[in-house]
Amino acid sequence: MTAARVVVVGSLNTDHVLSVTSLPVRGETVPCLGEVMAHGGKGANQAAASAALGLETVFVGAVGADAAGEAGVGELRRAGVDVSAVQRVAGPTGKATVVVDPDGANFIIVERGANAALEPDHVHRAITESAGPGSMILASLEIPLDAVAAAGQAARHVGAGFVLNPAPARLLPDDLLSACDILMPNEVELAQLQMPPERLFTLGVGAVVVTRGEEGADLLRPGRRPTRFPALRVDVRDTTGAGDTFVAAFCAARTLGFDLDTSCRFAAIAGSLSTTGAGARGHLPSRPEVERAMTGDPASRGAPWPAPGPTGR
Ligand code: RIB
Repeated sequence: MTAARVVVVGSLNTDHVLSVTSLPVRGETVPCLGEVMAHGGKGANQAAASAALGLETVFVGAVGADAAGEAGVGELRRAGVDVSAVQRVAGPTGKATVVVDPDGANFIIVERGANAALEPDHVHRAITESAGPGSMILASLEIPLDAVAAAGQAARHVGAGFVLNPAPARLLPDDLLSACDILMPNEVELAQLQMPPERLFTLGVGAVVVTRGEEGADLLRPGRRPTRFPALRVDVRDTTGAGDTFVAAFCAARTLGFDLDTSCRFAAIAGSLSTTGAGARGHLPSRPEVERAMTGDPASRGAPWPAPGPTGR
């Protein structure tokens, strides 16, 4: 019997992080205050966040046969992630330019590189060999759509849950959406999907969790009022990767057997705590740290956590 674990199917990038006094508007030139290189990629960030929470975690992705790929995979290995299902392909490892302002807001430009070569057969095999009932399969969209579809099919085949984080957003085919137990966009991505939650439910999506930055997240379920899960009030340093920690923490909580509401609370707290460090993986919270904050422990990094409630919509 395969142990319940989190399997993350997604991208691995090298992040080139530029700090600016304010994010440039169209046509504007702004000075750079500093630059650093960091490990990134939505999939790799999610895998690292899941492992930091103590979950057995497998990363399925593709890197180039270059120093950046070796460094990215080595960093995940050190973080405790199983990297045996990482493909080495021709071409450079993915890169991202991340621009961050003093409030921690950012924008990101991605060069997909090797991520674009991840093969569906490889994804299907990696999942069927590593996951079983009780596992959660988490995919995002910096990899080919047929690889994401293969993840959804394999999840169903092994009896695991399938969570899709549609980032970066694009229009998605109905059969891929039908494979999703949970869809987890941010509010911008939900609009870009051009599909109202009611239509997603008709296709078979079990629930939609919409992340809303410092406002927290909303859990939408068919036939029920939405529930708001507030974010923790923390000293925000950098919001890069907060969504990655959120979705990883949600999958970790589900794998641990938490119900939907508790998993959303857990994810909202973990996502908030992750913004206290610089870079996408500057602070990946542990399970005890998240649970301390959930109970309002004054030793935790954030202000007491308000109870979840209806969004009023
Ligand atoms: O979500 C943050 C991530 O998006 C960055 O690490 C960058 O690599 C892009 O994938």
